[in-house]
Amino acid sequence: MKVLITGGAGFIGSHLTAHLLEQGCEVRVLDNFATGRRSNLATLGGEVDLVEGDIQSYERVNNAVSGCEIVMHQAALPSVPRSIQDPLTSNATNVIGTLNVLLAARDHGVRRVVLASSSSVYGRGAGTSAKREEQPTLPISPYATAKLAGEGYARSFREVYGLETVTLRYFNVFGPLQDPSSQYAAVVPNFISALLAGRRPLIFGDGEQSRDFTYVANVVQANMLAIDAPKAAGRLYNVACGEQVTLNRLVRELRELLASDAEPVFAAPRPGDIKHSLADLSLARAELGYEPAVPLREGLQRTIQYFRAEEQPGGLDAMVGAREH
Ligand SMILES: NC(=O)c1ccc[n+]([C@@H]2O[C@H](COP(=O)([O-])OP(=O)(O)OC[C@H]3O[C@@H](n4cnc5c(N)ncnc54)[C@H](O)[C@@H]3O)[C@@H](O)[C@H]2O)c1
Repeated sequence: MKVLITGGAGFIGSHLTAHLLEQGCEVRVLDNFATGRRSNLATLGGEVDLVEGDIQSYERVNNAVSGCEIVMHQAALPSVPRSIQDPLTSNATNVIGTLNVLLAARDHGVRRVVLASSSSVYGRGAGTSAKREEQPTLPISPYATAKLAGEGYARSFREVYGLETVTLRYFNVFGPLQDPSSQYAAVVPNFISALLAGRRPLIFGDGEQSRDFTYVANVVQANMLAIDAPKAAGRLYNVACGEQVTLNRLVRELRELLASDAEPVFAAPRPGDIKHSLADLSLARAELGYEPAVPLREGLQRTIQYFRAEEQPGGLDAMVGAREH
């Protein structure tokens, strides 16, 4: 099977790339390295067919899709604060880029496109209880709005062109290879790198906001199931761990695992951030056969192990399982 992974040099994309190669698939990656890193692909040797380019160009995407049976669309500018600062660029990548991927997949008769969406699409629409896929969406940030537009195009392409699309709404993914240095870094790598460096982790708000933190291996599993699940065409699914964890608890767990006594610093809440986020996984369980295999604590341990190894010269080479899949 030949698979195109857009955004395959990014955090989640490179775990998927490694996993598919391990399964014996031919893998092509389309990436412009806007947020992805060459080093994420370097350890995979020369096996990846790398197409450097921007998904905003239909021509580029069309060339990359050619000859592929499956497309896994991960490429995006995946940051709420960035989309607030620059909604136009966020839209161009996350909406027009997604439309280009779907168009090229349609034009090449791709068997199935699996798309990465985000729990942020629920916004204020689904209340504070566990979110189910059929609940209303009311995105707050431009990023979430763009992700919802991508979902709409995926459904529409299934309806009007018969293209098989499966959309996965990821909830706060974390794990090895996630970039802690970006100003838009996700909380888990951010907190781990702060605590490892002896700094106090910075929490926006009172820390009582909660998230459903999902270890990256679980996301890889969901993507693999989505490739073939018979009922999944044209459908969308939550992909999460199914546990509600406040940022205060996350910091407590990390301090325990790292034997740190650094207290968090609190700052004003960020605009566009939602208060609570927890997934109902019934549909993904029933139709994809998805079952999160790695719980939060184990995921945090593996991630810490990775960041510690990264600090040592040659540490990553010595580490078994830097890529979790
Ligand atoms: N990490 C999370 O918690 C999370 C949560 C919900 C959804 N998602 C979605 O998962 C996907 C992967 O996210 P990630 O966390 O791995 O982020 P990432 O930034 O590590 O990966 C995104 C990849 O897309 C590439 N890219 C960006 N713009 C591009 C363009 N115009 N053309 C080609 N390539 C481009 C980047 O270089 C990068 O390699 C994204 O679609 C994101 O919206 C992530």
